[in-house]
Amino acid sequence: MNTSYTLLVTGGAGFMGSEFVRYKLKNSNDKIIVLDILTYAGNLDNLKDYLNEDNIIFPLEQETILNVKRIFEDKETKVKIENLNEDFERIKLKTEGYKVNFVKLSDLKDVVQDLLQEERLIFVIGNIMDREVTDILFSLSDVIVHYAAETHVDRSIIKADAFIKTDVYGIYVLLESLRKNKNVWKFIHISTDEVYGPAPEGVSFKETDPINPKNPYSASKAAADRLCSAYYNTYKVPVIIIRPSNNFGPYQYPEKLIPLMTINALNNKPLPVYGDGRQKRDWLYVEDCARGVDLVIEKGEIGEVYNISGRNERENIEIVKMILKILGKPESLIKFVKDRPGHDRRYSIDDSKIRELGLGVGDSELGVRGWGLEDRIERTVKWYVENEWWWRKVRESDREYKEFVKKWYCKR
Ligand SMILES: NC(=O)c1ccc[n+]([C@@H]2O[C@H](COP(=O)([O-])OP(=O)(O)OC[C@H]3O[C@@H](n4cnc5c(N)ncnc54)[C@H](O)[C@@H]3O)[C@@H](O)[C@H]2O)c1
Repeated sequence: MNTSYTLLVTGGAGFMGSEFVRYKLKNSNDKIIVLDILTYAGNLDNLKDYLNEDNIIFPLEQETILNVKRIFEDKETKVKIENLNEDFERIKLKTEGYKVNFVKLSDLKDVVQDLLQEERLIFVIGNIMDREVTDILFSLSDVIVHYAAETHVDRSIIKADAFIKTDVYGIYVLLESLRKNKNVWKFIHISTDEVYGPAPEGVSFKETDPINPKNPYSASKAAADRLCSAYYNTYKVPVIIIRPSNNFGPYQYPEKLIPLMTINALNNKPLPVYGDGRQKRDWLYVEDCARGVDLVIEKGEIGEVYNISGRNERENIEIVKMILKILGKPESLIKFVKDRPGHDRRYSIDDSKIRELGLGVGDSELGVRGWGLEDRIERTVKWYVENEWWWRKVRESDREYKEFVKKWYCKR
């Protein structure tokens, strides 16, 4: 895109969302508003280089962040912190070291509009389930890219509550805001290849294949995916659905396979591999995925679904061995643990539709086997080696990370 647009990116403090934000800030003149509630997976450090004293905004009186209104007692003053709920306590911890600017919800539109004159990025701490906030931000945006979600299958197996709220109810709120704000000309919903469910050997699902999710995470993503389609069908809102495969790369929360294995190996700790480790995933480098999303914004057709694949199908165990080799660590660190219940054996998608739009065209790296996987895994592993400050901070300061690891792996 040559002209400058305003993009609203939900979940822009997460792994894939922050990659997309960094990609757009580097490769376009567009302005970005991020809307993110900073759950355990959201991290301001992911956008550190682009955040400053002025561009982090916390609208008060959000319905979903109870009690926060109580702290805004005197407009002129210091914020008095009392009677905080859990959400706010977490946000306080998550924003340590950053300057947060509190604004009244009634001033949010003017504040963001003014900031858009000066800043390329505005970070709004807020919940996608908060209709007042989403309506205001939609009214200021040309394109929405919706990444925000609860994303970890294992957590959805322990407790699906947050998944239903954010992934299902959240998309409903956003779609309603979309109906109201006709200025938005594209709404990109980031779905996942997991909505298709497991693929038998030799089959790669196309966008027209039925969906068949098999765990609470993929089922809530499938509900969101189908709500997008239903809203397009019913109200003709400008929705496009993207179903990417398994992303990997820098800044991924250390509960996911590649960062978890890399960090454990660096610390000479056992590498917990589920079952026989022969589950197959299609590995897609996060920056390649951001390029695909950008292409769909530019050329994708409203109402369509696009798969994005890395064309790199590998068993988990192969990936784990690659990591050990890169780090020069022994395979004896691998520890096979009890499999995840209902673990899908293989995911596989056919992404010829987005390739026809031009993804990968002219990219010499994209051979029959896909973009150079080995090179991208090596780049990723090196990133974790060189950015110990990033993951150490996440692991040590995040109470939820410790609780999750204790609950999930200690019993296996
Ligand atoms: N990681 C993958 O391999 C993969 C593959 C395909 C699709 N996806 C989809 O891509 C999207 C991004 O995945 P990711 O791995 O970057 O996720 P992530 O868990 O790293 O980040 C999610 C972000 O959403 C934010 N968030 C969660 N609930 C919110 C709410 N109610 N309001 C506002 N913000 C909220 C979090 O704070 C966090 O910053 C998700 O929709 C996911 O389902 C992921």
